[in-house]
Amino acid sequence: MTQTMIETSVDPARLVTLSSTGAQLSPIVAGTWRMAAWGLNVDERLRWIEQCLELGITSFDHADLYGDYTVEELFGEALAVQPSLRQRMQIVTKCGIKLVSARRPGHAIKSYDTSAQHVNTCVDASLRALRSEHIDLLLIHRPDSLMDPQELADTFQRLRSAGKVLHFGVSNHSPSQLAMLHRRMPLATNQIELSPLQLQALDDGTLDQCVDLGLRPMIWSALAGGRLFTDSDARSLRVRSQLESLGQRYGASLLTMAYAWILRHPSRPIPITGSRRPQALRDAVAALRLRLSAEDWYSVLEASAGRPVP
Ligand SMILES: NC(=O)c1ccc[n+]([C@@H]2O[C@H](COP(=O)([O-])OP(=O)(O)OC[C@H]3O[C@@H](n4cnc5c(N)ncnc54)[C@H](OP(=O)(O)O)[C@@H]3O)[C@@H](O)[C@H]2O)c1
Repeated sequence: MTQTMIETSVDPARLVTLSSTGAQLSPIVAGTWRMAAWGLNVDERLRWIEQCLELGITSFDHADLYGDYTVEELFGEALAVQPSLRQRMQIVTKCGIKLVSARRPGHAIKSYDTSAQHVNTCVDASLRALRSEHIDLLLIHRPDSLMDPQELADTFQRLRSAGKVLHFGVSNHSPSQLAMLHRRMPLATNQIELSPLQLQALDDGTLDQCVDLGLRPMIWSALAGGRLFTDSDARSLRVRSQLESLGQRYGASLLTMAYAWILRHPSRPIPITGSRRPQALRDAVAALRLRLSAEDWYSVLEASAGRPVP
């Protein structure tokens, strides 16, 4: 271990609490967005779930529309082979986006819908597809300009009373959009994009709000959807080179360093992996043992911005 590597005590097998709501997830969450494209058979899907659990990644992030409304079903089918696994995991899913799809013939155009009727319909469909009695955390996928916050808060309360959903949150919401709902129904998280190649949440108040409210953000596309490894524009090359050079010093892979950079933020983010590969999952979990120095964190920010901080 080098002098700059500080061991921390985050145990990947222990759940972490997201906010005063008491919602709990594993410190690294497994994302299922790409599962349909993986082309796995049911045994391979089950094996992937088991590998996640073995690594302490016990929370799984879904949305009704992943894989053109098929991924929840693919996951539920695997779970049905080993139903006891459900007790060892937390399921997050999202609703509120209506995609035009042969599987949803009622959707004429792509739009957002947070009405009681739509949210209730989505929750029932997700529970059926996931073959679960409850959803641990339900998120509104994107802000709905037509949202009635009181109607949505009442819908959440009824879903909780019915035992269908334990906790609620939002995704991709601005600070004012989150605050409007949070005042009516305490939320667990804002699931947002953040990576060394996507810095917006650092500057637009989104992460400040998370720190302020004590509400841990979930982070999607922590590897910029893989572009951190593959893109060859000047910015990506700078960021990759800086993370690799830090990785040599910390004795960690590029992937681990990208996760460590995210985890260093005081909002205590919970990154969602997007990979099917066990090694990528292991590298993500390895970041829980690293803590970057502030200067090292800023060196990645500088590489991304292409200039020193003002
Ligand atoms: N709330 C939202 O609006 C929202 C939006 C997007 C995503 N999400 C959630 O966040 C999760 C993660 O998002 P994401 O999939 O974009 O995350 P990501 O981790 O940034 O990207 C995953 C992609 O990176 C690739 N990758 C990993 N390591 C690589 C390497 N060394 N070289 C080349 N490619 C590599 C993976 O391929 P391999 O499988 O081959 O490793 C995979 O295709 C999703 O599953 C979903 O649950 C939420």
